[in-house]
Amino acid sequence: MRALLVIEKVVVVGGGGHVGLPLALVLADSGYNSVSLDISQSTVDLINSGTMPFFEEGAQGLLEKCLAAGSYLATTDHQTIVSADVVIVVIGTPVDEHLNPDPNSVVEAISACIPFMNSSQLVVLRSTVFPGVTARVANLFKDRGLTPEITFCPERILEGQALKELKKLPQIIGASTTQGAERAVSLFTSLGVETITVSPEEAELAKLFTNVWRYIKFAAANQFWLMSNEAGLDFSRIREAITFDYPRAADLPNAGFTAGPCLFKDTMQLAAFSNNNFALGHSAMLVNEGLPLYVVSKIEEKYDLSNMTVGILGMAFKGESDDIRSSLAYKLKKILQFKSKAVISSDPFVTIDNQLISQEELIERSDVIVIGAPHLQYRELKTIKPIIDIWNLLGKGNLI
Ligand SMILES: NC(=O)c1ccc[n+]([C@@H]2O[C@H](COP(=O)([O-])OP(=O)(O)OC[C@H]3O[C@@H](n4cnc5c(N)ncnc54)[C@H](O)[C@@H]3O)[C@@H](O)[C@H]2O)c1
Repeated sequence: MRALLVIEKVVVVGGGGHVGLPLALVLADSGYNSVSLDISQSTVDLINSGTMPFFEEGAQGLLEKCLAAGSYLATTDHQTIVSADVVIVVIGTPVDEHLNPDPNSVVEAISACIPFMNSSQLVVLRSTVFPGVTARVANLFKDRGLTPEITFCPERILEGQALKELKKLPQIIGASTTQGAERAVSLFTSLGVETITVSPEEAELAKLFTNVWRYIKFAAANQFWLMSNEAGLDFSRIREAITFDYPRAADLPNAGFTAGPCLFKDTMQLAAFSNNNFALGHSAMLVNEGLPLYVVSKIEEKYDLSNMTVGILGMAFKGESDDIRSSLAYKLKKILQFKSKAVISSDPFVTIDNQLISQEELIERSDVIVIGAPHLQYRELKTIKPIIDIWNLLGKGNLI
């Protein structure tokens, strides 16, 4: 009989993804036998060949180390779950084309795992879920006659900083039993982090509130930038004045495209959870998602776009990242494709867009340049071409 608190093998379902893979590697590096279970055969093959499928700081070296040590592998075979002590589920949970969350995706992924599971396992749900999903998963197991401990332990890392943050950020543990909480606490404290235990429902909302709070803060900054800009004033100077040695405003962000796979969709998940009675969230969405159109309208006031080639520098959803999921730079590109003579784009990190050209060629061919993602190297840009820089990367202000 297995001792309840001894964890040897951990399987991460969705373990080839941006969240699952760094977690599986950190677990492998912390003494566990760790497995990424993923439905994508190409991702699994790439990982097992020793190549990270995306950029994550320090992960390439850690993957090579863990594969060589034999503490880690990736697979598409659900059979690996049979011998697991812990099953962590962290598949993607996007909203659909109508902005509806899909409360069934996690439940369906777990249904495929259940034939290989047993009652002595610990289940850790880690995808950001529609509130109530943890309870649905618990019922699913009950219906199949299984009683594993089920917890919801949300991921709060910043993409790109996962390896550091997994060993630093406090872990919220959502558990409905003492034993489930103890086992999840034991797993995460072994990574060296503090834990805080609440109910699964509280943890589900805690994760959504965390992301939505950031989304609303960015929207507030973007709205302030827009107001300043309409008044012909440079928001970067106003922000500097507000935040200078004034701790209560230290968290006022700069303007910029607020995008990516999490903040927007989690705001829509929360809106759906509250029966669309979420004026603040929807307003934030209008501001953040409306920014590319506003930027183009301001460029149009100065230039005859129909005769111009516009270059977008930076297509990732944020700086120093190769991730283009839900990137507003692509929304900007679509609008410009309609309005201008030609649009060209470049990004030093993105590898999966075959329309990208080099930065040098882009600068050479563009009549006007828009910074679409705040990669740090753009701070050194040297050109006489006009540059639209809402991030104020160049330090010349962000009045456009
Ligand atoms: N990306 C982030 O920075 C971040 C941060 C915190 C939380 N989250 C949350 O973590 C979850 C995962 O996000 P992500 O960015 O890693 O997504 P991702 O798309 O990068 O990875 C998901 C992985 O799950 C695999 N997958 C899908 N269905 C599966 C199934 N049924 N069985 C096994 N594998 C399956 C996919 O092939 C993919 O490799 C989401 O709920 C997201 O909201 C993401």
